[in-house]
Amino acid sequence: MMHKNFLLFTLAALAVTLCFADDDSEPWNYVIADKSKGPDSWSTHFEECGGSKNSPIDLPTSKDELYGEKAVGWDMHKWNKFNDWTVLNNHYTVKFSLENEGIMTTKGGALGANYEVLQFHLHWGANNRKGSEHLVDGKSYPMELHFVHKNEKFTTVQDAVSSGDSDAFAALGFFFELQEEDNPDLDDLVEAVKAVRNETNYQESGVKVNVSEFVSSASRSSYYRYFGGLTTPGCQEIVLWTVFTEPIGISADQMEIIRTQDDNSYGVDFFREVQLLGSRPLTLYDTNYSPEGYLNSAETFQIFNFLTFISLLITRFF
Ligand SMILES: *[C@@H]1O[C@H](CO)[C@@H](O)[C@H](O)[C@H]1NC(C)=O
Ligand SMILES: *[C@@H]1O[C@H](CO)[C@@H](O)[C@H](O)[C@H]1NC(C)=O
Repeated sequence: MMHKNFLLFTLAALAVTLCFADDDSEPWNYVIADKSKGPDSWSTHFEECGGSKNSPIDLPTSKDELYGEKAVGWDMHKWNKFNDWTVLNNHYTVKFSLENEGIMTTKGGALGANYEVLQFHLHWGANNRKGSEHLVDGKSYPMELHFVHKNEKFTTVQDAVSSGDSDAFAALGFFFELQEEDNPDLDDLVEAVKAVRNETNYQESGVKVNVSEFVSSASRSSYYRYFGGLTTPGCQEIVLWTVFTEPIGISADQMEIIRTQDDNSYGVDFFREVQLLGSRPLTLYDTNYSPEGYLNSAETFQIFNFLTFISLLITRFF
């Protein structure tokens, strides 16, 4: 019975996480000053929000804080099609859910498993000086987009959640950076947000967006990799994270359209503060990889030197 209740609670929490609940019945919010529902209280109501492998985190650029690997290419199947999305304004964010489940898949990228795209959504802030969830050397970008995937080995989202596996879900994060001109590759995305922004819980179906238009360049850049969690309650630590280093360009006007929701959510922060990395390894899959400077290379060189030493001994004595 205990177990069943726990499972139901977890599923309810996930429904909130993946769908982002809304209005007064909301069990949590992003308001720092709100002691009962704000981020400081999340771990009281959702135990895993107090875990040691939470997300987001601050990403360092200094190699001596990173493990280095050569970037492994991606197979983003059907990302370059005009797929149909249901676009929902759920008060916290605008969420694009893929209508044909399983049609878009993500392989490669050293993920270690194949993943199916479920949805993508955005995190932004009250102004352009903040908004991204992950930071780079403590610096915010004005927006971050997350593609949420389910590990293909699970039939349903529920199965994936209840597995508790650290790689049950994969999230691909993309930063946005301000540029002078509008980015025409974002036209369909911005139009879709505009169409639902006037009303909480308003949604439109059959919205055609070709996500390759805005991710194709950034998805060829170096990327960070670590094991973490959902960035909203219940914060389950079941997400393999990828964050691409190259941002997608966006104009201040386009940012303003996305930020300007006609309900009462204008000028609000929709992102979580960074969490501690702790003892988790953080790897940069580097498109210009060379081992010097990375954390792991010292070890690699030590092993190399040891082997050289042994072979010298061998040649000397035999
Ligand atoms: C929001 O826009 C949609 C589509 O234009 C419309 O059907 C809906 O009634 C609008 N809601 C409000 C509260 O204006
Ligand atoms: C989707 O966008 C990509 C990148 O711009 C492009 O190569 C591809 O042809 C587009 N797909 C369609 C169906 O237009």
